[in-house]
Amino acid sequence: MEKIMPNRLDRGFYLYQEEFEKKAIDVLRSGWYVLGNEVKSFEEEFASYVGAKHCVGLASGLDALWIAFRILGIGAGDEVIVQGNTYIASVMGITMNGATPVFVEPDEYYNIDASKIEEKITDKTKAILVVHLYGQASNMKPVVDLCHKYNLRLVEDCAQSHGAKFDGQMTGTFGDIGCFSFYPSKNLGAFGDAGAIVTNNDKIAEDVRVFRNYGSEKRYYNKVVGANSRLDEMQAGLLRVRLSHLDELAEEKKQICERYLRELQNDKIELPKIREGATHIWHQFVIRSKYRDALMQYLDEHGIGTIIHYPIPPHMSEAYQYLNVPKGSLPITESYADSVLSIPLYNGMTKEEQDYVITTINAF
Ligand SMILES: Cc1ncc(COP(=O)(O)O)c(C=O)c1O
Repeated sequence: MEKIMPNRLDRGFYLYQEEFEKKAIDVLRSGWYVLGNEVKSFEEEFASYVGAKHCVGLASGLDALWIAFRILGIGAGDEVIVQGNTYIASVMGITMNGATPVFVEPDEYYNIDASKIEEKITDKTKAILVVHLYGQASNMKPVVDLCHKYNLRLVEDCAQSHGAKFDGQMTGTFGDIGCFSFYPSKNLGAFGDAGAIVTNNDKIAEDVRVFRNYGSEKRYYNKVVGANSRLDEMQAGLLRVRLSHLDELAEEKKQICERYLRELQNDKIELPKIREGATHIWHQFVIRSKYRDALMQYLDEHGIGTIIHYPIPPHMSEAYQYLNVPKGSLPITESYADSVLSIPLYNGMTKEEQDYVITTINAF
């Protein structure tokens, strides 16, 4: 058998090859490549999928985050609460505006531990950024309550949670802004970089729409100093194809992960848990082991590739040494970084590949 990779983007393409190729040719022949009908239709269809009033397409998930905080007026001197164990882009979305991230430890589901937020709120706190990590919805009720109690903005990083729900409500719709990435490896992936924000607030949607296009509503009339963060027609068109199949793609991943949960049996590993009331769309299947590095090497020697999401927590990265959050200050976050491992998971994964991953891990 050829080596099993952690992810196989080609398999996701071949599942709907004809539709993707037809769409690509249609866009190429249309003569219109940036902010056109494909973008408009994708925005309508994705807003409807998420159950939000507006979607505004952007160039990446990181852009969605930093533009969200910029539009909310959060910047120098302000603090934003975020979990310690996230992808560094969540934190960059805060710091690119000059604001300061205040880290909170995660719970056993790898999401922010809502019981540890209140002690971090100060008179500088302006917002909470919730990250629905690995595809599982966070515990939103206490977070929403705290935002009301302290009059804080709520932003959700949904880069990994397209379609995940908490108490029946879609992630991205609990607060002011939901930020999405459509990076190719995401559950709703494009064929290049792409992102979006969703919101129920008319003013926020309009402000982001203007901001993404050099701050102009009308060509060459610039209201604010904006950015170039436009979603292009090719990505929007291809995303529309994938979105039309997203539920069946999610179901396929769910079946694989339910198999993993049932059949992976090895007391040297800990399986992911699902919170009551939350759904998981399985962006990643993340196990944990004290013997993580040995397990990773063993799997590699047996032809199975794995990835660590993420080996260095943001506060320990070289980029964020200036924050002065020393090693040891977030022990749970740091212990997760030392023990987590994402095992192969992708649409189009064969039963034979799943069998081999399961028997090989069980034999470790
Ligand atoms: C949690 C999280 N936030 C933000 C991002 C940034 O998205 P992008 O790569 O589209 O900029 C990603 C993915 O890369 C992510 O996983």
